Amino acid sequence: MSDSWDDYADGWDSNSDVIEYSKIAFDSLCEFISLEGLNVLDFGCGTGQLTEKIARVASSVVAIDSSPKMIEVLKNKNIHNVNSLSWEISRNSINENPIFKPGFDLIVASSVCAFVPDYEKILSDLKLLLKEGGIFIQWDWKRSHEDDDFGFTNEIITNAYSNVGLSLIRVAEEFSLTSEKGTMQVLMGVASNA
Ligand SMILES: C[S@@+](CC[C@H](N)C(=O)[O-])C[C@H]1O[C@@H](n2cnc3c(N)ncnc32)[C@H](O)[C@@H]1O
Repeated sequence: MSDSWDDYADGWDSNSDVIEYSKIAFDSLCEFISLEGLNVLDFGCGTGQLTEKIARVASSVVAIDSSPKMIEVLKNKNIHNVNSLSWEISRNSINENPIFKPGFDLIVASSVCAFVPDYEKILSDLKLLLKEGGIFIQWDWKRSHEDDDFGFTNEIITNAYSNVGLSLIRVAEEFSLTSEKGTMQVLMGVASNA
């Protein structure tokens, strides 16, 4: 596997696993919250598989990703209510960009938190971008074995929310995906900035 997400950008939208994952994640999102009228941040949006679906219902979406090539693919889709940018989140950079100023009603992170170097730091930065009472939702691969170092457990997610001051709403096995690599469970974590 390449170290750079840029290398996956061209084929991302035709990857059947990516398409399936974003469809099911979107369905689970809509079961949990009504998107109408919401200002949403899609963190680690990739080429915007989930962004596009959210944008059809929400008021606006800011879509950010650290990979310039992923963002280039999304920008070329020209979705009228999506503002996309290649951006590395940090406390300082949040204050520098006016796009983040109003805060978000909802932040989604679909299959990204398990790939960042410091999950709790990202969570505490994202918390700064949530309005009071705003909702954070993530989907991530569940660890197959306790001693794996990739993916999350319910406990890791629950503890991280508590450590950064997000109020846990729920963490659950939401769906599973079967590919040539086998069947993997996906955890959905939901918290509020209450
Ligand atoms: C598995 S892909 C998921 C993309 C998209 N959410 C989807 O479901 O198709 C992980 C994405 O997270 C992005 N990413 C990884 N680390 C990041 C970070 N620190 N900040 C923003 N995006 C990041 C990658 O560039 C990549 O596009």
